[in-house]
Amino acid sequence: MAQPQQRRAQGVVRFHNFLPEGDSFLGDVLKGLARTQKTLPPKYFYDARGCELFERICELPEYYPTRTELAIMREHAGAMAKFLGPDCQLIELGSGSSRKTRILIEQLQPPLYVPIDIAGEALKAAAASLAQLFPWLNIIGVCADYTRPLTLPEFVGVPIRKKAVYFPGSTIGNFTPHEAIEFLQLVRRMVGTGGALLVGVDLKKDKKVLDAAYDDAAGVTAAFNLNLLARINRELGGDFQLRRFCHKAFYDEDKGWIEMHLESLAAQFVHVGGERLRFSQGETIHTEISCKYSVEEFRAVAHRAGFAPGQTWIDAANLFSVHGMIAV
Ligand code: AVI
Repeated sequence: MAQPQQRRAQGVVRFHNFLPEGDSFLGDVLKGLARTQKTLPPKYFYDARGCELFERICELPEYYPTRTELAIMREHAGAMAKFLGPDCQLIELGSGSSRKTRILIEQLQPPLYVPIDIAGEALKAAAASLAQLFPWLNIIGVCADYTRPLTLPEFVGVPIRKKAVYFPGSTIGNFTPHEAIEFLQLVRRMVGTGGALLVGVDLKKDKKVLDAAYDDAAGVTAAFNLNLLARINRELGGDFQLRRFCHKAFYDEDKGWIEMHLESLAAQFVHVGGERLRFSQGETIHTEISCKYSVEEFRAVAHRAGFAPGQTWIDAANLFSVHGMIAV
């Protein structure tokens, strides 16, 4: 599919920062904590400490998604590259450490890779290591909130036949099914008719397995969840006492999703940005959902956003799926 690596020209590496100038963190925090069911947007998990904790979650014995998806990629990346086809511009949403992408890039050899992530430093570090690994690869890193409409920077001089969005990690599960449809409609616009989507989706399974995956024995997921409050203290001068909150996570079988909360262990007041916030004992801040789908359920969601199913790759234990889909 691609020319031998040694005959290809040195790739170009560029960055664009599309994050809004103004500080929306404080506004989002105050808005979320003013609601009857207090909430905090999960995108704020990923500061430097949050990214580090998330990397540790991915290594936990209870957290099967990362290693299972990696194994699926190792086994089927060749078939996925065939599905996507040659001269395919690869756009990755929430690229993080780009670990799974390496496996795909090796097989696909795309002329252009566009990783998009809200965490600028992690994006630069991942791009630098990919550039070392694949010196011929053109990389345009985009620091942005990919859940918002986005016009991607142009890159001329390389043949592009098709755009493909790669969205691994079952991050799609962090939207409700309704939000997932809206989000996939944005993706559909990004790739255009005939474009492709390769998306990792965690499958429905036993509640015990799911509960343990989001409430591990070593307490890493608890630390990840509580880091949201620590981040508010660090960046917004909040005075959350972390010992007075605890991590709660459970799989709701009716809704088909994990809910993560931070529970107040006492009646207390907390101050953020000059506001006084009241918490009663047992009250929670809802911090994340993580939806689990059957293959058919996910196909129905994608269909409503304008994607037709192509191929689906699943591990032998039926834990995780990777769907290849085409925008129609
Ligand atoms: C990023 N996302 C797919 C993870 C998940 O499994 O929903 C975030 C996470 N939260 C707790 N553990 C992992």
